[in-house]
Amino acid sequence: MPDFDTSVPHIARVYDYWLGGKDNFAADRAMGERTLQAYPNLVFSVRANRAFLARTVRFLSGQGTRQFLDIGTGIPTASNTHEVAQHIAPESRIVYVDNDPVVLSHAKALLKSAPEGACAYIDADLRDPDAILAAAADTLDFGQPVAVMLIAVMHFVGDDTEASAIMNRLVGACVPGSYVALSHAASDIDAEQMAEMIRRLNETTAEKTTLRDRAGVTRLFDGLDLVEPGVIRAAEWRPDTDLEAASPAALWGGVARKP
Ligand SMILES: C[S@@+](CC[C@H](N)C(=O)[O-])C[C@H]1O[C@@H](n2cnc3c(N)ncnc32)[C@H](O)[C@@H]1O
Repeated sequence: MPDFDTSVPHIARVYDYWLGGKDNFAADRAMGERTLQAYPNLVFSVRANRAFLARTVRFLSGQGTRQFLDIGTGIPTASNTHEVAQHIAPESRIVYVDNDPVVLSHAKALLKSAPEGACAYIDADLRDPDAILAAAADTLDFGQPVAVMLIAVMHFVGDDTEASAIMNRLVGACVPGSYVALSHAASDIDAEQMAEMIRRLNETTAEKTTLRDRAGVTRLFDGLDLVEPGVIRAAEWRPDTDLEAASPAALWGGVARKP
């Protein structure tokens, strides 16, 4: 039996359910259904988010980035960060971070590096960036550029001041030429359905979600140079096809470079 309470839905497992995964429990599936009823396009939205993740890693690898700090990793699914990065550059080094025990057990088993590179997994909280940075330094060289991946995770930090402090701490540890890739659930796309979906989600999940509008998400990139096309609906960030761009996705996404 798992040593955590499976009767309480957890966001990592609810997200796994939305994506069609099987690493979830009855309470996660029930919450998955309740939220899908409020916002049926959620299925497209989470898929568009995963596609955004893959496109940003591809872009960053193309820019020469060989180190990734992926915080709020999620249960391993298709196109995990190291798979995309090491497909392009096998020597890429990836540190995964999450605070969910199910993510931890699956990640340790599944997130296996190419022999030329490295993958490490840290059980830590986004709200403790010092602990993340200290542990990540065992695998990443912070004297070289790092891409900090914050994909669908900053919306668990509701307080704007705390969110900015976390961003500043993470970015502050990285050299110029490093990048941040971020996606974030939106308050101003499909606004009514999203608000009701999040209201249901926050009834019982431990990690509360706070939606931000486009301006609020853009502020998270303060001090960084946004790469084109800036903060945009995640599906429209450098899409591979028109079909991909047209996918419903109630998330803002962007990539920025540390000057
Ligand atoms: C919506 S999923 C996103 C997963 C993946 N980044 C993606 O976009 O496909 C959010 C993940 O963040 C993790 N998470 C939530 N709050 C966290 C926190 N405070 N610290 C670390 N991880 C957190 C959850 O456990 C979950 O795995």
